[in-house]
Amino acid sequence: MRLAIIGGTGVYDPAILEDVREETVVTPYGRATVRIGTFRGLEVVFLARHGAGHTVPPHRINYRANIYALAALGVRRVVATAAVGSLRRALAPGHFVLVDQFLDFTKNRVATFFEGGEQGVVHVDVTEPYCPEIRARLAEAGAALGLAVTNGGVYVCTEGPRFETPAEIRMFERLGGDVVGMTSVPEVVLAREAGLCYATVAMVTNYAAGMAGQPLTHEEVLEVMAANGANLRRLILEALPG
Ligand code: HPA
Repeated sequence: MRLAIIGGTGVYDPAILEDVREETVVTPYGRATVRIGTFRGLEVVFLARHGAGHTVPPHRINYRANIYALAALGVRRVVATAAVGSLRRALAPGHFVLVDQFLDFTKNRVATFFEGGEQGVVHVDVTEPYCPEIRARLAEAGAALGLAVTNGGVYVCTEGPRFETPAEIRMFERLGGDVVGMTSVPEVVLAREAGLCYATVAMVTNYAAGMAGQPLTHEEVLEVMAANGANLRRLILEALPG
């Protein structure tokens, strides 16, 4: 069973993999470029969600091409990383959240492979959108490594690319959100439609807008990601089979 890692903000480099080769997959939705390598003899596909140099903003990512390409390469299990803002004081920057639900506040994204016609009409079940088996492995790995990992949490997905207003953050918090980001929807939904076992490791890079008393910057997000990138890598590697 092939495994893939989708690297979000701050995770662009499959440095952990050996014998890495690049492959471009042509899909009905466009091209997707991945790097394939081995880790402890296991073949792993790495996909940089925002492109190798972080050139694609969240609302322009070709989510369908990415997920289609992974499925076409024989991938069945996906660990995605995501930088997120925190809506909860207890989830401080550096904390990992294995999200188990989402609230969808995206606006202009195609969120399905099933557009009617030849593809048919399909209403996929998302009672459990994020793979519980992979989450359990990641939770065990986090405990073994002594990292701050919470198994379960609600990911609020915004359209972006702007950050949120403090009023939006207060609303999301009241609605039950725990963390906020811009990419999990439709990625997780398409992964379900493609029959992939997909989980997200969300890493808190900042308190959400209005909680820290100062404006948010993308640099701050990148800095915290860089400072905790090693832990994120350790967490994923510890959870991989083999
Ligand atoms: N909001 C939305 N997306 C994010 C944030 C945030 O505060 N931090 C990292 N990604």
